[in-house]
Amino acid sequence: MSEIIPVISATGLYTPPDSISNDELVESFNAYVARFNAAHAAEIAAGTVAELAPSSAEFIEKASGIKSRFVMSKESLLDPDVMAPRWAERPNEELSVMAEMGVKAAQAALAAAGRDVKDVDAVLCAASNMQRPYPAMAIEIQQALGIEGFAFDMNVACSSATFGIQTAADFIRAGNARSVLVVSPEICTGHNNMRNRDSHFIFGDVATAVLVEAKDVAPHPHWEIVGTRLKTVFSNNIRNNFGFLNCATPETIGTPDKLFVQEGRKVFKEVVPMVATMIVEHAGDLGLNPAGLRRLWLHQANQGMNRLIAQRVLGHEANEDESPTVLDTYGNTSSAGSIIAFHLNNTDLAVGDTGVICSFGAGYSAGTVFVRKVA
Ligand code: COA
Repeated sequence: MSEIIPVISATGLYTPPDSISNDELVESFNAYVARFNAAHAAEIAAGTVAELAPSSAEFIEKASGIKSRFVMSKESLLDPDVMAPRWAERPNEELSVMAEMGVKAAQAALAAAGRDVKDVDAVLCAASNMQRPYPAMAIEIQQALGIEGFAFDMNVACSSATFGIQTAADFIRAGNARSVLVVSPEICTGHNNMRNRDSHFIFGDVATAVLVEAKDVAPHPHWEIVGTRLKTVFSNNIRNNFGFLNCATPETIGTPDKLFVQEGRKVFKEVVPMVATMIVEHAGDLGLNPAGLRRLWLHQANQGMNRLIAQRVLGHEANEDESPTVLDTYGNTSSAGSIIAFHLNNTDLAVGDTGVICSFGAGYSAGTVFVRKVA
């Protein structure tokens, strides 16, 4: 039996209508800081409570490259008394917010591929956080799209989408499916601590979808998946301790470690070499010269990290064409970042061009998906 080759047939993107600029975010954060310091003036004077320092838009852009981010709940995020996403609770009969975002991205991918839902075999919802434990978000998305077959959720933090692509590709290689949707709805503002000066600016919300299919059913042109590789190394440097064992305990709700916390500097230092080495080694194993890669669609967490990774892979400072940035307008959208970069920057490439989609983040986790454009 000849080998079944998995390809990326199309991608889809859902961008929330509202965005928050650094100036807007900092104004809200600094209003919270002023209120906190005023409310705790006596304790601050007595030295029992630490005074909070204000944030700055200049710092945010310089440290991260982020200028603004799209969000699902602008008003409540900017309200210094809330600083979290809020919307009316939906009844079970209504599509949940995360599923709604995923469905829109998935529909865009299906339309781009000209694919009928009856020809899709599986849906993976691969994202950093699920809106609820069960029923799986993927099954709700599957039902809303009208897809038969099976669906399940996967969570590998920022690497969820590439882990999802490899899982989908493996289903296809094994003959268990011919068309698989990998959907990544990311409401990152919901697990970010918007009151933490070090990281309140990092995240944004978005949803992406990748349609992975067997080459013989795929539309043309498409991106052949030349190779996929996944890696995980345990680290506490990016962590969120929220979970079903503590969410019902009043004293644990709202404590900082029940939201995203990170040692940003350590992450930077440890993940850059891990990812650069992984790309170079994987390229070598596939018989590819890393310096000859046409484009790197990297995870979008920090501009400085991407600059260093691209430089180590290509052997020179990469330009926007070689390593496109979407971080400036989207912020860090967790697993969706490298897929947005690919979605917005792949149609201009020529047949035969080879590049790599690469994500990395908490776990630590990293995934590489080498793709070649085929007519
Ligand atoms: N506004 C103004 N100043 C701020 C600030 C803010 N919002 N946050 C921190 N600072 C200050 C700090 O107090 C510190 O001041 P000091 O030098 O006087 O002590 C200075 O800026 C540097 O802070 P630091 O946190 O060390 O900045 P950094 O240059 O390491 O950048 C990150 C921070 C988080 C942007 C960066 O480390 C990063 O992106 N790391 C990787 C993150 C990542 O990929 N995470 C994966 C998530 S999925």
